[in-house]
Amino acid sequence: MSDIKAAITGIHGWVPDYVLTNQELETMVDTNDEWITTRTGIKERRILKGEGLGSSDMGAEAARGLLKKKGLSAEDIDLIICATATPDMIFPSTACVIADKIGAKNAFGFDLMAACSGFLFSVATAAKYIESGSHKCVLVIGADKMSSIVDYEDRQTCIIFGDGAGAALLEPTKNGMGVQDSILKSNGEGRHYLHMKAGGSVKPASHKTVDSKEHFIHQEGQTVFKFAVKGMADVSAEIMERNKLTGDDIAWLVPHQANKRIIDATANRMGVGKDKVMLNIQRYGNTTNATIPLCLWEWENQLNKGDNIILAAFGGGFTWGSIYLKWAYDSK
Ligand code: UT7
Repeated sequence: MSDIKAAITGIHGWVPDYVLTNQELETMVDTNDEWITTRTGIKERRILKGEGLGSSDMGAEAARGLLKKKGLSAEDIDLIICATATPDMIFPSTACVIADKIGAKNAFGFDLMAACSGFLFSVATAAKYIESGSHKCVLVIGADKMSSIVDYEDRQTCIIFGDGAGAALLEPTKNGMGVQDSILKSNGEGRHYLHMKAGGSVKPASHKTVDSKEHFIHQEGQTVFKFAVKGMADVSAEIMERNKLTGDDIAWLVPHQANKRIIDATANRMGVGKDKVMLNIQRYGNTTNATIPLCLWEWENQLNKGDNIILAAFGGGFTWGSIYLKWAYDSK
């Protein structure tokens, strides 16, 4: 096996300015701050306003910020993987649009679609390109404009989602830091419980699909919740076990931010205390592919070289998984 590992060597995030609070949602649907807070942990989320703006604009902002921070030129990048469930359009890929917007002329790029697990799957995929020696400067971007597919008359989904983007730089390292292990899973039987009914090849857009609101997220919340709690906790426990890690060995759990109760159950199962769990769901809600990089970005100053970090996610598909990595740099 190659002694090259893929390490995250930089992280950046970007969220839109507009704050959609629980109080504002109370004026839109039959809900209340108390219900949303106790059932999900969410207080507010960000919404991208403005004609003609999409996931690529947020992804490009995150990428530009990251390049600036690292003192890199966009032309240094040789691969861009964009994890998104809300691409600018069905084709071309949002990765191609971002590459053009930031001037990444030497990169090839593609989108990776794994719903809320997309960032996790993308980091694992990027790691393979790096470990093989073929690529050396890889941007993994998670970007979602969830507000573009949320029905703001559906109180079960509109309270959950928000918009945002995060970008991670992955580079090769030979000092043992970086991605140590990953477990990725999917089960298409779960597709019925969390999906968008129309707009794909099975049911292209028509007046009828628009009238019947089939271009919005359809979620059977309780069923997804049940699978998410088990899926995220099981896979996180499995990756700890096979790497002989106990809760004490873990510096940080970085969970997908879908519901605070799912996160608590996962941390509990792993034996990881609340003080080691990155949690910003209260401010951003579920930004789908941006949740994990936004957490890493906000906690970057608290991370130290060698920290054992577990990333974990669950999402539509169903898709789920976890990654065990050793943080590669002192951020302060
Ligand atoms: O990131 C991708 C994966 N997605 C997830 O992991 C999401 C998983 N699911 C969830 O997070 C939760 O299921 C929800 C937050 C979506 C819903 O929470 P819940 O505790 O499962 O609520 P429920 O669907 O069981 O509904 C309980 C009650 C119902 O009323 P009755 O039938 O008991 O009278 C709902 O109609 O709460 C009602 N309800 C609401 N009440 C106030 C549902 N949504 C709302 C609301 N405000 N926004």
